[in-house]
Amino acid sequence: MSSAEWISAVFSPTGGCEKVASAITQGMAVRRVDLCAPVAAESVSAPLLAVVPVYGGRVPEVALERLRVLKGNGGPAIAVVVYGNRAYEDALLELHTVLTANGYKVIAAAAFIAEHSIVRSIAAGRPHGADADKAAEFGRTVAAKLAEGNLSTVCVPGNMPYRERPQMPVAPLTLDSCRGCGKCARLCPVGAIPANAPHTTDAAKCILCMRCVAICPRRSRLLPPPMLEGMTQRLNMVASEPKQPEIFI
Ligand SMILES: Cc1cc2nc3c(=O)[nH]c(=O)nc-3n(C[C@H](O)[C@H](O)[C@H](O)COP(=O)(O)O)c2cc1C
Repeated sequence: MSSAEWISAVFSPTGGCEKVASAITQGMAVRRVDLCAPVAAESVSAPLLAVVPVYGGRVPEVALERLRVLKGNGGPAIAVVVYGNRAYEDALLELHTVLTANGYKVIAAAAFIAEHSIVRSIAAGRPHGADADKAAEFGRTVAAKLAEGNLSTVCVPGNMPYRERPQMPVAPLTLDSCRGCGKCARLCPVGAIPANAPHTTDAAKCILCMRCVAICPRRSRLLPPPMLEGMTQRLNMVASEPKQPEIFI
């Protein structure tokens, strides 16, 4: 591994954050750390790119817990949140604060938009070509800042105390068409689906990340339809107007 290689630490249950991270690091040497699985403790000296989704205007706690395992040593980090075109509220400030407390200098930050992982019609198809171009440009600008040896930190929007973390009212349902292949159990980021009973979900652990719904080969997992309808109506009212990426450098 060359010392210039970035570490790209991404929590991406349904792939939106992954697309943004790949666009930012296009053409660069990166080592990926998958925050959807437990992370081995490490003292990081390379630039750390942290890309996480926004849940209820916050960063999912499990993503922060796994990021905290990657200790900074006064080195640079790039904080990126990805949201489903409603709002990112306190999430970027929360990510910035956790990275700083963990020993990093946050030298750049950004908020990008991806398809809403619960209501897929919101921001459908994003990140689109222009988002990806903006992300790649952001990556090049950060690389140039690093090449100059410029570790000046950035400020990001958000409020403290943060918004309350949203309570997840329900877990996804499983239809009778489930054949128990166990893919959802293997890939659930929080271990909420027992391997020996993959048609069930531990609602106390579930963070409603939608990964099981997105990856089920038989489409046997889904949100309770009344909940999905309610969310679709609410989001159609507040998240229809396309938002644009925001860059802080
Ligand atoms: C539980 C949950 C809460 C969410 N809350 C928000 C939110 O507050 N604002 C927003 O714009 N998008 C919200 N989203 C949408 C995600 O931030 C967005 O779809 C993101 O791209 C998901 O990342 P992923 O595709 O890598 O899983 C939420 C999604 C989920 C699953």
